[in-house]
Amino acid sequence: MAGAFRLTVYSLVSDLMPEKKTSRLSGFYAKPLTERIAAVSEWAELSVVETATLSGGLTPALANQMVENAIGMFALPFGIGVNLLINGRDYLAPMAVEEPSVIAAVGNAARLARAGGGFQTGSTPSVMIGQVQLLDVPDLAVAAQAVLAADPVLGKLVDSQMPSMVARGGGFRGIEVRPLHDTPVGPMLIVHLLIDCMDAMGANVINTAVEAVAPLLESLTGGRANLRILSNLTDRRRAWAECTIPVSAFATDPVEGFSVAKGIADANAFAWADPYRAATHNKGIMNGIDPIAIATGNDWRAIEAGAHAYAARDGQYRSLTDWRLVDGSGGPALFGRIELPLAVGIVGGATRVHPTAQTALKILGVTTARELAEVMAAVGLAQNLGALRALAAEGIQHGHMALHARQAALAAGVPADQVDRVAAQLAAEENVKASRAAEIWAAQRGEDNEQ
Ligand code: MEV
Repeated sequence: MAGAFRLTVYSLVSDLMPEKKTSRLSGFYAKPLTERIAAVSEWAELSVVETATLSGGLTPALANQMVENAIGMFALPFGIGVNLLINGRDYLAPMAVEEPSVIAAVGNAARLARAGGGFQTGSTPSVMIGQVQLLDVPDLAVAAQAVLAADPVLGKLVDSQMPSMVARGGGFRGIEVRPLHDTPVGPMLIVHLLIDCMDAMGANVINTAVEAVAPLLESLTGGRANLRILSNLTDRRRAWAECTIPVSAFATDPVEGFSVAKGIADANAFAWADPYRAATHNKGIMNGIDPIAIATGNDWRAIEAGAHAYAARDGQYRSLTDWRLVDGSGGPALFGRIELPLAVGIVGGATRVHPTAQTALKILGVTTARELAEVMAAVGLAQNLGALRALAAEGIQHGHMALHARQAALAAGVPADQVDRVAAQLAAEENVKASRAAEIWAAQRGEDNEQ
């Protein structure tokens, strides 16, 4: 039985990936679920046990250890973003998400980006910020100087809290002071500890460190420590991704290709200038980033907080991406860039505990937290490209019709094996409503019973 399974896997994969291991999986979406699972299992060399985690790795017993008052588990669809070429390497992106069309959009946009060589990415070291709030400080300027002068002592104390992090090359990276002269409760001194968390997200490490140094900071400043906690505006821990796509990739007709690319650049300018649009634009970016965070067991609320705070760093909330027309080597091209804070880990926390998160990391094949952050940045950029392309061309509803039709049919209680049939009629009628799905299903059932 096991032998037959392997045989099937190999023949499937050679169909999908004839020459080398590429993520350019044409027609992946049209394969039956079992064939997709088999192809991805072979791609990532998943064991039978790891493959099984794709449909329920978490157990009630494990869930009970992870959170308080556990009563069960909440499942999400787990899909694969295909076609990703990043720094010359092919990736399959594991994505846990409930929204239709998100995963399809990544694949479509990543296919477009391949026309320009895919995505190029980079990142800073994994430096996180821990904050200590000092109140009742007699003289902010004197206290700030005293804290800065104590940098070596504070550094030693911080590193002594995290010997294994230091052994891996991480640990204390510096001190910053931020006097806040005017707050609703009067002046206060904020001290930042900068700590390289390497492959961990680092929340526990940072929170331990700020608690450990707070008494010393109190005696250095004459103040009283109140909050001691990490900052989710992790602007020292950023990742970025870029792509340059010839306008010819957007349509076979060159004039139309240019017009779509220009539409994308114009849409980006809208989000740069208008916070109302920027919120939607950035939500679309996070449509790509959050599902990977969830699939890999990372804290997506932390990522969201950091991304949106960073988007408002100049005082106005703006787009996290930049799209502009440029002169490419082969003619006009669309250049895109994203840069944002991405505090993600590949060790510790739910990443380690959740069996499906371990499988997701194996599918991605990343070996460092920075590589994970860079892939997430590239997927965020791809997701944004997918949304803007559709918005600037045919409009978002057109491409979403079939997917939303399936959801409407499911919402109307249509059995899973009949959903495609009902959805096809909803889409043909361009009337995607659960109430209409129920009517169609009732009529089809009636016809089936008569036959
Ligand atoms: C929907 O989840 C995301 C979009 O609204 C993003 C955007 O408008 O750029 C399509």
